[in-house]
Order: sequence, then structure tokens, then C-alpha cells
Amino acid sequence: MSSQSSKQMALVAFMQAGSTSVYAGSWRHPAADLRFLEAGYYADLGRLLELGCFDLMFFDDRLAMPGIYGDSVAEAVRTGARPIKLDLSSVLGVLAGATSRIGLGATYSTTYYAPFHVARTFGTLDHLSRGRAAWNVVTSVNDSEAQNFGADIHLGPEERYDRADDFLQAVTGLWDSWEDDAFILDREGGVFADPSKVHELRYSGTHFNVRGPLTVPRTPQGRPVVMQAGSSGRGRDFAARWAELIFTGDPGLEVARAHYADQKKRIAELGRDPQSVKMCPMAYVVVGESEAQAQEREGVFLNDLVDPMASLTLLSELMNYDFSAHGLDDVVTDELIASTTGIRGLVQNLRSHIGGTVRIRDLAGHRATLLQGPRFVGTPKQVADQMEEWFTSDACDGFTLAATHFPGAFDDVVRMVVPELQRRGLFRKEYTGNTLRDHLGLTRPEPSKPSERGDDV
Ligand SMILES: Cc1cc2nc3c(=O)[nH]c(=O)nc-3n(C[C@H](O)[C@H](O)[C@H](O)COP(=O)(O)O)c2cc1C
Repeated sequence: MSSQSSKQMALVAFMQAGSTSVYAGSWRHPAADLRFLEAGYYADLGRLLELGCFDLMFFDDRLAMPGIYGDSVAEAVRTGARPIKLDLSSVLGVLAGATSRIGLGATYSTTYYAPFHVARTFGTLDHLSRGRAAWNVVTSVNDSEAQNFGADIHLGPEERYDRADDFLQAVTGLWDSWEDDAFILDREGGVFADPSKVHELRYSGTHFNVRGPLTVPRTPQGRPVVMQAGSSGRGRDFAARWAELIFTGDPGLEVARAHYADQKKRIAELGRDPQSVKMCPMAYVVVGESEAQAQEREGVFLNDLVDPMASLTLLSELMNYDFSAHGLDDVVTDELIASTTGIRGLVQNLRSHIGGTVRIRDLAGHRATLLQGPRFVGTPKQVADQMEEWFTSDACDGFTLAATHFPGAFDDVVRMVVPELQRRGLFRKEYTGNTLRDHLGLTRPEPSKPSERGDDV
């Protein structure tokens, strides 16, 4: 492996504000910290990741307990398959105070929230954190979520992306509704701000009408960073238009390379610079002082802790499809995939990675053992070799590292893997900027023009 590279890897920590990491068995790990209802738990994790110079820590979300499997939440509660999801604006508020450099991101749904609410939440966070906010845009995944917001079923994939496009138009317009130099703060003259520089948006879209202006002035980053994780064709088009950081679930190197090339092409076709959009696939790291220790950790703590019911519960949730009617040996047919409406891209990717006949057992296994992304197992050097291989072969611009358990998985990465990446010149030794845009090398966006915002002026 080469030892120097000028291109810098982005490292993003994939966080969950609840009882488990994305890996359903994580709460059972003997070293798992179970203080997930305490502010100090999140603050400690933030400080740890900041020591490792991570670009960003961002939290996933779901607006319902997993309740698709057997039309019940019982298995989610019994097995601990992500039954707890705390409100993320409060969690990020804690982190804005506990850290000073690391980016802070949260997942907010365009299907179940309103543009004004989201623009305000992330605008506020960008101010309070002095330019470290990121919004992970999702369209949400299943009927259980719909049923918590007054609907029976989740919107279909096309309809929810139509809504999401409209939503982003409104949110970016709101973020731009104050010009950077609108404040006057003339105490003697009694002029607070220049009314000619604070614009009513009066956005009128297909799904939303928003008057504006936002009650939060233009933020340190101009706009918070926009992240996205849709991986179906429509999801990739949406990312090409709006995203600055793309989070993917690519299970193997070849799938990731193909995804990377396809996504960057879509970005270029829209006239955007493909380099200005970072792609960071999800990956899991199991590191040990020796290879044998890493393998033992993988076997004992990772492969053995997931209850099969937790796996199927989560699979049903992700695919918005009740797998309780199937046996583990049933084949995943095209018809079955066509009748799912959740994260379609994830299954398409898994099918191409596994190849041949794919059974429910294979899908559940991947979900349980975290193989929506690669698992890098070994000594710090071996793990860094694998990361470097992905990074230098057009498969990614960095990684979104998922935790096998909190905080130990990130502790291991910060203590053992980050120094090795730094030694190779692949990753920063210290923060050189203050904002998340600085860390990711993203420019501060120019405010949109009145006609682009939808102003009626
Ligand atoms: C790797 C990955 C992670 C995702 N994380 C979330 C999440 O935390 N919450 C959520 O509501 N949707 C999540 N999604 C769903 C997508 O953001 C998107 O809303 C949904 O998958 C539909 O897009 P698709 O059909 O293009 O994949 C995720 C999708 C992927 C591929």
C-alpha cells in the first residue's frame, strides 16, 4: 500500500440516539455503555470523536418503533431492536455545548416534518455550534411512521421524492431569506436590521406554501450541510441535485465502485462539480491488537449477539414489508422486491453483492451482521489497508463508520486506526478549520437570487 496521499479521507461517525447502534445486538455487548438516556453519554462520545478529528458525527432516525413484522412492536421491545429513538434536536444541543470542532448532523424526514420547522431547527443548530450543522435528508421508510403522523400507509417512493424536492426548495429558500449583512444593531438610532435585506419568501410549491422569512438569520455556514442516503435511481437523482455529503450502504468494493461512478456521473450531468460532493459508505471496523484478537471479537461479540427475530423485525421495518409470512428459506424474488416500498436501494445493492439466488435468510443475515457495508477486521494496519484500498480505488471519499457497540468501537478506531491513517497521510492530524464545511472542503454557498428563492419581489 502507498504511504502518502494528498487526498484526505473524510471520517463520519454513524450515531444512534437510543439503546443500540445500527447493529441490533450492540446493547448486549459486555462493554456497552447503557447510559443512553443521559446527556453525559452523548457528550462523552462527542469528545471522543473530536479527539479522533472526525469530520462529523451524525444520528440516524426513525419516527416509530419497528412494528411491521407481525403487525406488532413486541419483538422490537423484547429483543431491543431499536425500540428507542430520542429527539435529535435536544441531543445535538447537548453536543453543540460539549464539543467545539466536530460536525453535528441529524436525520429529519421530508415526509413527516414541515420545511419551516426543519429550516429553523438546523439554522439554529448551525448558529449555536458556530457552523457545524448538517441535515441528513430522508423521506422515511415505513407505514409505522405514517401511523404516528395521521396516515395509514407511507407515501410511495415517487411521491415522497416529489415532496422532498419541493421541501428542499422551500428550506434552502428559507435559509437564504436573510442576507449575510442584514444586521445593523444601531442602538442609538434604534435600527436593528435592514428590512431590504430580510426577504419574505412566499414560496408556492406543489406540496408546500411557505411565507417566510425564517426567524433565524443566515447561518455561519451560509447553509447547513445537506446529507442524503437514498440509493434507488430516484434517490440518486435527488442526491445529485441536493446533497453535499452522500451516505451509502454498499456491501462490497465492486458495488461501491459502480455506485460511486454512477452517482458522480449523475452529479456532473446536473452541472455540479462531482468533487464537491463527498461519498462516504457505511463501514464497520473490528480492530484488535492482533489479527486473532480482532477475529475473536468479531465472532464472539458481533456474530453471536443478534437474535434472529431482531433481524427480521428490522428487515421488515427497513423494507416496509411484513416478513412474518415467510420462511427463512424462501427466495427473494423480483415480485417480492416489487411489493416492498421501504429502502429499495439497499436490497438491490445486497442482491448484486450476494449474487445468484438470494433467500430471506441471506437478507436477514446481512442485516443482523451489519453487512450493508463492508466490515474491516484485523490489526490497525490491516484495517487501514482495507480502508486505503477503498479510498484509492474510486469507491469512496471517506467512510461513515458504524459502531458495533458504544463507545468501545469508536474508542478502538480513535486509539488504533486513526493514528495509522494519519501516519499514511490519509487523514488530518488536527482540525485546520472551524466549520463542517472547512473539514469537508466544501465552499460556503452564495445566497440564492430572489427569483430562485421564489420571492414575489
Ligand atoms: C444507508 C442508508 C441509511 C438510511 N438511514 C435512514 C434513516 O436513518 N432514517 C430514515 O428515515 N431513512 C433512512 N434511509 C432511507 C433513505 O434516506 C430514503 O429516504 C429511503 O431509502 C428511500 O430512498 P431509496 O428508495 O432511494 O433508497 C437510509 C437509506 C440508506 C441507503
